[in-house]
Amino acid sequence: MTEHVGFRDFQPSDATRIEFGEPGGLVELARLPGAIVMVATWRGEIVGYVSTWLATVHRTRRFIDVEVAPGSRGRRIGTRLVERIRQRSDRPLATKAVEGSDAAAFIRSLGGGLYASCPPLELPRRQFGKAIETLGGHREVIPASALSPGEPEHLWLQFYRWVHQDWSPVDDSGEAREALIQEAAELDLDRSSVALVDGQPAAVAFVFDDDLAPTVCAETLTRDAPDGDEALARAVCRVVADARENGVRKLAFDGHEQDPHFGPLAARLPMEGSRLLLLEIPLPA
Ligand SMILES: CC(C)(COP(=O)(O)OP(=O)(O)OC[C@H]1O[C@@H](n2cnc3c(N)ncnc32)[C@H](O)[C@@H]1OP(=O)(O)O)[C@@H](O)C(=O)NCCC(=O)NCCS
Repeated sequence: MTEHVGFRDFQPSDATRIEFGEPGGLVELARLPGAIVMVATWRGEIVGYVSTWLATVHRTRRFIDVEVAPGSRGRRIGTRLVERIRQRSDRPLATKAVEGSDAAAFIRSLGGGLYASCPPLELPRRQFGKAIETLGGHREVIPASALSPGEPEHLWLQFYRWVHQDWSPVDDSGEAREALIQEAAELDLDRSSVALVDGQPAAVAFVFDDDLAPTVCAETLTRDAPDGDEALARAVCRVVADARENGVRKLAFDGHEQDPHFGPLAARLPMEGSRLLLLEIPLPA
């Protein structure tokens, strides 16, 4: 007799029975408002799970994560788990996958399409000199710590909102705003660099401290900032020069090919690493 794979909602007691993937956060995740976690079972064992949640800042899509036990792959268990979530969702499902990876092939097999992409984003120390040469100097760039109190946080919100506006808008809620302000509290204000045009902030390279590789988010402050490309290059140049001086081994940029000024800038720099695809599976027809 053929035994069918079963599908049901996750129960907290399942967490200790899952011996593959990273099930550690599932119990907490399942408690979040709007989250759904389902498992696939076969002969009494859990052979796959899918989790989906609504983020605080970006809520036009649900984020998903799916994992099938290595010995049970290739039997459409992943497909069936995601399809069940899709039937219960009121918005597209989204996830990130490295270009060329099995995960990307899997999401594409489910009809997933690209809604944004990240270029290679790692700048190792041995490329700092070449990057500085390409960027061309950092006159009229000040550290964010020289701005008035509260201004760096304000600029972070302003930058973050407009950059995502067209393809993953920031939710219009107090919680989303609060989450972004909390993020800004982590900024390294001495390293974050503000390029001025006519004495006014025009572009910023925000730096988040990390011992292994500081994260850099860089763009102009408005879509049509005057001399935006040039201003952004100056801001980024100060960050790279500062990293070289301070013995930083690697900078990890965070941004998208779609970012109007950062995208073209990243393409000119000797970045390393894989392209990351932001994929979405549309709602059922
Ligand atoms: C990716 C994963 C969930 C797929 O689960 P699965 O049950 O084996 O996948 P399915 O059998 O439903 O595959 C459906 C389709 O996806 C694609 N696919 C699945 N695994 C693939 C692989 N290793 N390489 C290339 N394509 C793959 C194929 O097109 C496949 O259709 P086909 O069998 O007709 O060729 C599973 O391999 C896994 O858990 N991987 C590790 C975690 C991960 O990468 N999760 C995805 C992040 S959202």
